[in-house]
Amino acid sequence: MKYKAVKGMEDILPPDTKIWQQLEEKARSELEFYGFLEIRTPLLEDTSIFVRSIGEDTDIVTKEMYTFKDRKERSLTLRPEGTASIVRAYIEHSLDKISSRLQFYYIGPMFRSERPQRGRSRQFHQIGVEVFGSNSPYADAEVIKSASNLLKALGLSDFIIKINSLGCKKDKDKFAEKLKGYLTGKKNRLCEDCKERIKKNVLRVLDCKAESCMQVVREAPDILSSLCIPCKDGFEKLKDILDKLGIKYEETKNLVRGLDYYTGTVFEITHSSLGAQDAIGAGGRYDNLVKDLGGSDTAAMGYALGMERVIIALKNQPPESRAVNTVYIATLGDRAKIEGVQIAEKIKKELSSLIVLKDLGEASLKSQMRSADKNKATLVVILGEDELREGKVIIKNMQTKEQVSVEKNLVVNAIKDRLC
Ligand code: HAM
Repeated sequence: MKYKAVKGMEDILPPDTKIWQQLEEKARSELEFYGFLEIRTPLLEDTSIFVRSIGEDTDIVTKEMYTFKDRKERSLTLRPEGTASIVRAYIEHSLDKISSRLQFYYIGPMFRSERPQRGRSRQFHQIGVEVFGSNSPYADAEVIKSASNLLKALGLSDFIIKINSLGCKKDKDKFAEKLKGYLTGKKNRLCEDCKERIKKNVLRVLDCKAESCMQVVREAPDILSSLCIPCKDGFEKLKDILDKLGIKYEETKNLVRGLDYYTGTVFEITHSSLGAQDAIGAGGRYDNLVKDLGGSDTAAMGYALGMERVIIALKNQPPESRAVNTVYIATLGDRAKIEGVQIAEKIKKELSSLIVLKDLGEASLKSQMRSADKNKATLVVILGEDELREGKVIIKNMQTKEQVSVEKNLVVNAIKDRLC
């Protein structure tokens, strides 16, 4: 029998592990700079924590959780997301007694049994943030800004921030009834899933991607016009703050999110290079969750970025704005091999963010170039006997195929000019 990784759960191999390490390091330093503290919770929790937080009729709870009984017949679940566990820890350790405002971050694997496809796996990783203790629109704006800053620090550009408000619990319930009334009259035009959603999770009909449902939704009542005055004012204030902070966003009236704990501001961040699974991160306010799980009345808000999707988006960027670049050193002849070791060390010492690979074997230049290509090298430094005699090396750009000859002593500067 040939063993394989469990379907939808991927190995992360070098040189990709380098990208993961760099992303994690950058996220830690960015978030710690802004005063977030790291929190680590177990991968397994009591199943009921997720059922109560995420909602018993949501897709995650009904179809996607890895739930099993342990030897003592207790129902446990591999965490499908981080928020519920962190709220559990916040209550269990009375963290509200430490400070009225606390902000945490976490990095780690999550598990959802979804149909695997590009950007969607069954074990995936999130970098998440949870902020406890403020319900002000300034806190909303700060959290959204933090997500935007973090993505920029990770090297990503051209993402879109979409925002909406679900209103308070009362607004949300009132709107759900109104929507139910509207959709029931149009039931036969909805997909089979949405017919079920009307009964159990009506807001999710709004973000169904089936063409027939999207047509019905176009005419549906608007959640923003159902908000009470304080919620409406809060959302207007948030937009005003984002404008003043220079954070671009798109107001998206059908953005509802798939987890029941949200009330008030919700947001999603998308990247066009991703295709169907284009959400690289998402979050929102969950002001009732701490109380619902048995804690004090504590407002809270957070988000999580999907690391696999961020990495796909980073790899889709042009080489000059990639987060991690690989330089491959190809050598021809004995002298070139010695020089290759020295040049590799020099590059590594001065440009530590680069991955430097070298080939000290006897392979032909053609086969070394193939290997550079396989390793997704951005630049290849070619060391040949003739060039070295003249004190020169060749640098080849693997995308444009352009080749230049540079002084051996200036190779680090030449790479820096092209990649850093
Ligand atoms: P979520 O929207 O379920 O929210 O997930 C956040 C991000 O995780 C998504 O935008 C996506 O990038 C990534 N993601 C989700 N499922 C998968 C998957 N199967 N494969 C790959 N990536 C995936 C939450 O999890 C909330 N806990 C976010 C939050 C924190 N809200 C408040 N605080």
